[in-house]
Amino acid sequence: MIPVPTLGTPRLRLRDWRDDDLPTFRALNLDRDVRRHFPSVLTPYESDGFARSIRAFLSENGWGLWAVEVVGGAPFIGFVGLGRPGFAPFTDCVEVGWRLSSESWGQGYATEAARAAVTFGFTALGLKEIVAFTVPGNTASRRVMEKLGMTHDAAGDFLHPRVAEGHPLRPHVLYRLSFEAFRLANTMEHR
Ligand SMILES: CC(C)(COP(=O)(O)OP(=O)(O)OC[C@H]1O[C@@H](n2cnc3c(N)ncnc32)[C@H](O)[C@@H]1OP(=O)(O)O)[C@@H](O)C(=O)NCCC(=O)NCCS
Repeated sequence: MIPVPTLGTPRLRLRDWRDDDLPTFRALNLDRDVRRHFPSVLTPYESDGFARSIRAFLSENGWGLWAVEVVGGAPFIGFVGLGRPGFAPFTDCVEVGWRLSSESWGQGYATEAARAAVTFGFTALGLKEIVAFTVPGNTASRRVMEKLGMTHDAAGDFLHPRVAEGHPLRPHVLYRLSFEAFRLANTMEHR
């Protein structure tokens, strides 16, 4: 077991999960707005199973999909962090991902938390590149990728192997962020 580091941002804490996060996570995964770009909502049983796998990954690796808390506010609004896609050809990549409760949307939380996660990926983990993907119509998620400085790699767009053939949510767009682009953006910011 590796201790899970807590990452701080001006408004948020990215922390290890607690058992009392699970009821909110169940509600979030049952919310049709949150699941609009996924084939289905998750049942409470599926939600708990997913949370268990997230927590196991975090404690095995010391990084992963952190639970997000608003400092002085909501104790749990969802997850943001890094993961390893479990399907080819991305099994060697690290991806950045997010899922927040709809009440917390539109305040820049996903971008703020994801910046902390990619900074951790490039500095503490020494990654050379971080990818992200979603369905073409997930404008909010694509906007977060763009605000992080990620670039759409149209040549890398793909059909998600875990979504049924012919399903409208099968096509995915791929975004990439290289360490070089991240370093350059941060150097420019601090000039
Ligand atoms: C994607 C998600 C995490 C974004 O969370 P958030 O905290 O609202 O994100 P931010 O506030 O940091 O940024 C969202 C951006 O998308 C924009 N946006 C949101 N909905 C939009 C829409 N329907 N059309 C156009 N832009 C939209 C916002 O205006 C904002 O951009 P701006 O800062 O330039 O105005 C949240 O919508 C979510 O949890 N969605 C459901 C789960 C999901 O789809 N996860 C991603 C799977 S790949």
